Amino acid sequence: MIMGSFTGRHIIDTADLSNEEILYLVDTANAIQNMGEKALDLARGKTLATLFWEPSTRTRLSFEAAMFNIGGQVLGFSEAQSSSVSKGETLADTIKTVSQYADIIAMRHPMEGSALAASHFSDSPIINGGDGAHLHPTQTMGDIYTLFKEKGRLEGLKVGFLGDMLFGRTIHTLARVLARFGVEMTFFSPEGLNIPSYVRADLEEKNATFSEFTDLEPTALKDLDMLYVTRIQKERFFSEEEYLRKKNSYVINRKILENAKNDLLVLHPLPRNEEISTDVDALPNAGYFRQAKYGLQMRMAIIASCLGRI
Ligand code: NCD
Repeated sequence: MIMGSFTGRHIIDTADLSNEEILYLVDTANAIQNMGEKALDLARGKTLATLFWEPSTRTRLSFEAAMFNIGGQVLGFSEAQSSSVSKGETLADTIKTVSQYADIIAMRHPMEGSALAASHFSDSPIINGGDGAHLHPTQTMGDIYTLFKEKGRLEGLKVGFLGDMLFGRTIHTLARVLARFGVEMTFFSPEGLNIPSYVRADLEEKNATFSEFTDLEPTALKDLDMLYVTRIQKERFFSEEEYLRKKNSYVINRKILENAKNDLLVLHPLPRNEEISTDVDALPNAGYFRQAKYGLQMRMAIIASCLGRI
């Protein structure tokens, strides 16, 4: 029985969730969308804190919108400068304090492992909204929900990832989940930005079928059902020069999509720089803004589940 099993739980990595629990969250997201006004009772009297030490548009605002949509309240900060962190307060003390004010905490921090560390000090569930170049489990859950909405299934899909595989945390969580559902994967990344060894080891352990290219190989593009594009993660580079060298390695535009299946779904966690040309936006293939909406709906399911209200 899964219902209730999320109550009070931290969501740090998708590896914390069984396949059954992932599918349960997809069903829950659908169920909440069908509740109409009744959804406003799900978080009534509850407070979400959003603690963002790193910039964010979609993740923070969709957490906040999700909480409002299920009748809850929100407090928090969106930059370290406006909190006592700027006075030298530790992560532990900040979390210990905020967990006295909020029933659930969504956080983003530049350091890998920060959300896990925070969970050790928190009296409320911690939801990882991105820890450095490491993990981004709620983005992945939104991406999985998007695939169900747009493709109706995960099994048997062929998925490509394009961009910065090394520092792209959205890829690290998504690829590891897709491997568990038998999805075949192709990674296209500039030299030196390929998937980190812990992700590769995880995929191998799960006997995933995957291949890696440094070019956007047209024959590999041809068979894909979904292409997940990411930006080169500038803020994680040690030198500006190195970033500039990698920056515009690939650009997806209408012309390139002529080599792909008619119903290729193009996703992107956003923000985009120049890796998807805006001429793609008007095509039905461009799923990235729908993906942002599904991310919001999934976060409603995650918050309601961790609060034990559904
Ligand atoms: C991503 C992130 O922050 O990791 N964005 C997001 O959460 N939707 C991707 C990125 O910053 O490139």
